[in-house]
Amino acid sequence: MIGGRVEVKVPASTANLGPGFDVIGMAFQLYTTITMELADKTTIRLQGDKLEGLPTDKSNLVYKVAAMVFERAGLPDPDLAIEMQSEVPLTRGLGSSAAAIVGALIAANELAGSPFSREELYLMSSQLEGHPDNVGASLFGGIVVAFIEEEQVPFVRLPVPKHLEALAVIPNFMLSTEKAREVLPSMYGRKDLIYTAGHAGVLIAALAAGNLNLLQAAMQDVVHQPYRMKLVPGLEEILRDAHHYGALGTALSGAGPTIIALIDNRSDNDPLHKFMVQTLAAHQIDSTVLHLIPDEVGVIVNSLRGATGQRS
Ligand code: HSE
Repeated sequence: MIGGRVEVKVPASTANLGPGFDVIGMAFQLYTTITMELADKTTIRLQGDKLEGLPTDKSNLVYKVAAMVFERAGLPDPDLAIEMQSEVPLTRGLGSSAAAIVGALIAANELAGSPFSREELYLMSSQLEGHPDNVGASLFGGIVVAFIEEEQVPFVRLPVPKHLEALAVIPNFMLSTEKAREVLPSMYGRKDLIYTAGHAGVLIAALAAGNLNLLQAAMQDVVHQPYRMKLVPGLEEILRDAHHYGALGTALSGAGPTIIALIDNRSDNDPLHKFMVQTLAAHQIDSTVLHLIPDEVGVIVNSLRGATGQRS
């Protein structure tokens, strides 16, 4: 065991981008920061208002994930001093739990003397989350396209096309991923399968080629968004009309309730901002809008007693 004190900074993310359900993630410059060191007694300090209500004992997700890393490395159950702060609103579809899982895995792996490779940590984080989309983006930055196999997560990381940014409208209510997955069918027909293969395929190719004009058509989805509309009032109108206000493509962010519109940073995006807020307000839902800039770096690790600023 190496020990020391480690700080990790993990970007938030959006998942799916419409038809890339459980497959596509994109990272943003909105960060969760975790510091961790071995201690005589476990303490968990949560800073800022975003983490209010999370447990501060060993039932905390960050502690549990870190303890799992130690256990899998064959090390004794650790006591840890953990500090955590986050700019990411919880349970809104911006990958807050994925960022916490990735941060905990990377920090604990560092403290344990790096027994696991990045690929192994990606598999662990995907298994913990149940899908590799948000965790992939948080780990590697940019746009990550991936699927889980039994013992590996094959993936491709794409750089974000130039000028592509996002407006995220965040409704003032929480929606758990569990609840948003319960409303989905367990079976789909051939028509939906072909629709999804076509749309996800063209979406990924358009992102790789930087062809932003295709996003509006390619981001249409039949797998999850139609079923989640009843959980997010206003989603239907925003998905249908946002492109009239300048959005390049619009999607429910992950399991929601945040809705994300991809934008060109050279355009005037005030009309789109107003349209999204007013559409939710018409359903009596207050919201805030974040202008999100892609993160191309992924998780950053700082060993606070040793070398600084290394990518994991
Ligand atoms: N792909 C996941 C979903 C992301 O849409 O349910 C949420 O964590």
